[in-house]
Amino acid sequence: MAGLVRAKPACVLGLASGETPLPTYEELIRLHREEGLSFAMVSTFNLDEYVGLDQSDPRSYAAFMHDRFFRHIDIDTSSTHVPDGSAEDLDLACAEYESAIIAVGGIDLQILGIGADGHIGFNEPISSLASRTRVKVLTEQTRQENARYFASPDDVPRLSLTMGIGTILEARALVLLATGEHKADAVARAIEGPLSAMVPASAIQLHRRAIVIVDEPAASRLALSDYYREVTAAKAGLGAIE
Ligand code: F6R
Repeated sequence: MAGLVRAKPACVLGLASGETPLPTYEELIRLHREEGLSFAMVSTFNLDEYVGLDQSDPRSYAAFMHDRFFRHIDIDTSSTHVPDGSAEDLDLACAEYESAIIAVGGIDLQILGIGADGHIGFNEPISSLASRTRVKVLTEQTRQENARYFASPDDVPRLSLTMGIGTILEARALVLLATGEHKADAVARAIEGPLSAMVPASAIQLHRRAIVIVDEPAASRLALSDYYREVTAAKAGLGAIE
């Protein structure tokens, strides 16, 4: 990400909230503070937001991004975009989100986390692989997993706005991050399982520039991990991984 920002200062980053990318944001903040990495011309688009939470609500993804990343760097906050889950007309807000991405020339690099049920963004199982930004009902599993950010599980919204899988696949490059044993099954199904709407993250198999970065526990159910190590070693120094 830092390399992209240096090479293309007006680049467009697709961002995820949640726990997984936090160390990434912390490192970018460090690079900003200590090495002068500037985000002044960068635009960002986040994947998703809860319906019914205003951007000022501390439980919203908009507030999360502001608190954990944007307020620590020199980004122009008018260039940071999160779907508007408090819009009166949600379908219109989704259509406008798609238009805003097109207006800036598309997303250069999209960061993705993965849910234990295989979701990317809030594209839950059986999401259309061609889907665009829209309203999505959260699964009970996702609501339970995200309950830690709310006073009680019943407070977790049932609806979200999320970029669609089709929207995500249009980014010029994808980087999927996963850490922890609880993600191991979803990671294996996404990378090595069949392409299936039951595992929305498996859609990254369709992208020609998708990079997956996992720690050992998240990689623990991959069948071909020795081969991936060999490939990584063979490609080291060769430049872009295709
Ligand atoms: C959040 C998002 C979700 C999360 C996923 C993993 O913007 O797009 O798909 O990436 O739910 O969440 P964490 O990282 O909290 O485990």
